[in-house]
Amino acid sequence: MTGPSTGFKDRFGDLLGRPVVATEIDLEDFAGFKCLYRDERAMIDDAKMLEYYISYRWLDLGPDDTYIDIAAQDCPFAFFVRDHFGCRAYRQDLFYLEKGIHGADIGGNAARIPLQSGSVSKMSLHNSLEHFEGRSDIRFFREAQRLLRPGGKLLVAPLFIGEAYSTVKDAGWVDEDGVKHLWGEGARFARWYDLAHFKSRILDNSRHLRVEVYHVDNAAAVDPQCFPFFAMFERLV
Ligand SMILES: C[S@@+](CC[C@H](N)C(=O)[O-])C[C@H]1O[C@@H](n2cnc3c(N)ncnc32)[C@H](O)[C@@H]1O
Repeated sequence: MTGPSTGFKDRFGDLLGRPVVATEIDLEDFAGFKCLYRDERAMIDDAKMLEYYISYRWLDLGPDDTYIDIAAQDCPFAFFVRDHFGCRAYRQDLFYLEKGIHGADIGGNAARIPLQSGSVSKMSLHNSLEHFEGRSDIRFFREAQRLLRPGGKLLVAPLFIGEAYSTVKDAGWVDEDGVKHLWGEGARFARWYDLAHFKSRILDNSRHLRVEVYHVDNAAAVDPQCFPFFAMFERLV
């Protein structure tokens, strides 16, 4: 993986046709969110909590929304959204949920979600888009445009993008003893976008979406592991 170098944000802004938006996390507000949203799963640290906080703060959720946490695995965030904002909420996943709609759970590929066109107002992908294998990322963006109602929003947090495009088929982490552990079936594949592939795979297939990319300037103050970019797509009328 190659991280962004000097000038990357400017080149990214040139590609988007608008500057990357510099933002900061209000650390007190983030601490308050961590008291509201409880997530007892293993490996939920501040870097993960920041992804949910960004959905909570940037998606402008309310009781009229229909929300989907795309590629949620076993994440309870959609249930928090339902209970906190009083809206309809689903979680969706390919490998971890049974195919079809089962109450609030939707199993299957995010590129083909069995809901009506225009029936969804908000979606987020927390640490997920980069695990969509083959052309699933491209197909998902086409599907998202079908599902989202005008003005609907789609958040990708973080957006893993840098100087070099790469993919791996055995994604995981190396522990302090140098032993490699795999993330497992749902995240065995990982993709790191560069600007050219972000354009050809995402922007060129999102013609009915307006994208705004954000850089969290104080991401390291939340957790040194945080990757600072996220993207918000809005369905045009
Ligand atoms: C790193 S995990 C997601 C973590 C989860 N969003 C969270 O915050 O806890 C990546 C997920 O992507 C799912 N996935 C991969 N390809 C998918 C696809 N095409 N459609 C839906 N889900 C997919 C995997 O099953 C896996 O659960």
